Amino acid sequence: MRVEISRTHQAYFDFVEGVKAYIAERLMPQLGQLYQQKAAAQAALTGRHPTTIEDVARVLEPTRLYRFSRCLQRISQEMMWTVVYRALEPQREALIAELKRPLEHPLGEVHLDPNLELPEYYRRVEFHLQPGSYFGDELAGLAYDLAVPIYVLHRYGPENDEMGWALVSALPKRPYRRILDMGCGIGQKTLPLVDAFPEAEVIGIDLSAPMLLYAHKRAEARGKRVTFAQQNAERTTFPDESFDLVCSTLLLHELPESAIRRVIAESYRLLNPGGVCAHLDLPPYREQSPYNAFLMDWDTKHNNEPYWSSFHHMDLPALYREVGFHNVREIPITSRWGEEGFYTGTFSYWVTLGEKGGGMGR
Ligand SMILES: C[S@@+](CC[C@H](N)C(=O)[O-])C[C@H]1O[C@@H](n2cnc3c(N)ncnc32)[C@H](O)[C@@H]1O
Repeated sequence: MRVEISRTHQAYFDFVEGVKAYIAERLMPQLGQLYQQKAAAQAALTGRHPTTIEDVARVLEPTRLYRFSRCLQRISQEMMWTVVYRALEPQREALIAELKRPLEHPLGEVHLDPNLELPEYYRRVEFHLQPGSYFGDELAGLAYDLAVPIYVLHRYGPENDEMGWALVSALPKRPYRRILDMGCGIGQKTLPLVDAFPEAEVIGIDLSAPMLLYAHKRAEARGKRVTFAQQNAERTTFPDESFDLVCSTLLLHELPESAIRRVIAESYRLLNPGGVCAHLDLPPYREQSPYNAFLMDWDTKHNNEPYWSSFHHMDLPALYREVGFHNVREIPITSRWGEEGFYTGTFSYWVTLGEKGGGMGR
């Protein structure tokens, strides 16, 4: 899909990204230093260092630097969506028509289900402040594609797919023949699966029709064959034991715990004996310092991520074992962002992986 971004609109994009870079690269390191000083002063007085998210909150929340950095973060996020949708507005009708126009000889397919019921936990949230969320605006997919590079300071690479490659790197080497990417969004992280496993049939599912329509156009423009389908990852229409790999990126933190349980059980049902389940997200709080966890937890209330906190407190490996997976392991992967990390100096992905027993000894 061709989208024209005028120089004026590009200037707005660059300004917002500049604000976000200023927060990440200037304010956050200063905040880290302030925290070290204050925590040390407190320990000198009380003999106790902060050990919980609440302890860190008591140290940082009263400080002007913390409040300023978080105000700016919130405002930059609202500005990001405003400038992106404003850039699309003059082309809205043409873009929607192009999105809906069937392709002549597509490699892949897109199947929408207008009767699919969107779960209440999904309908009521505008995730990370996107107006209309993933489904309420026909241009939601295109807006997401333009906004995310600004959001992440262009650090995921030109295709915004670093996370997809991180997932691939964590997988046991197997001849995966059928792959399901749950909550695939616009398919940025689905395409590395196509490249890594060229013999496989790759299917991406998502609740959002606008995301899938755009994912289809985006994949076709890159010559990648993917079948996209509008389905709920909690209960899909695929038969038992029909995939070798069931995976996701950044899906689980957007689900309440009850839905996560159903998604992991569904992953188990869908896998062939010996199949692999691998969901990638950000590291759980137990793996982070109280300071990092406190900063990350901010998104729960202030970036419209209502399930973020409960997800990061969850014992996902225990859930995997409960539904029947064995050989369950957690695989941390350091992003190329490395020391320039988003929150506190390092940034890593976290893959929770399990295998379904009874494999054919591949
Ligand atoms: C944060 S986005 C991640 C998209 C993509 N995986 C990526 O990494 O770019 C989460 C996606 O999950 C989808 N989603 C949320 N709940 C879902 C569910 N129950 N079933 C299928 N998709 C879901 C949303 O519509 C959204 O596209």
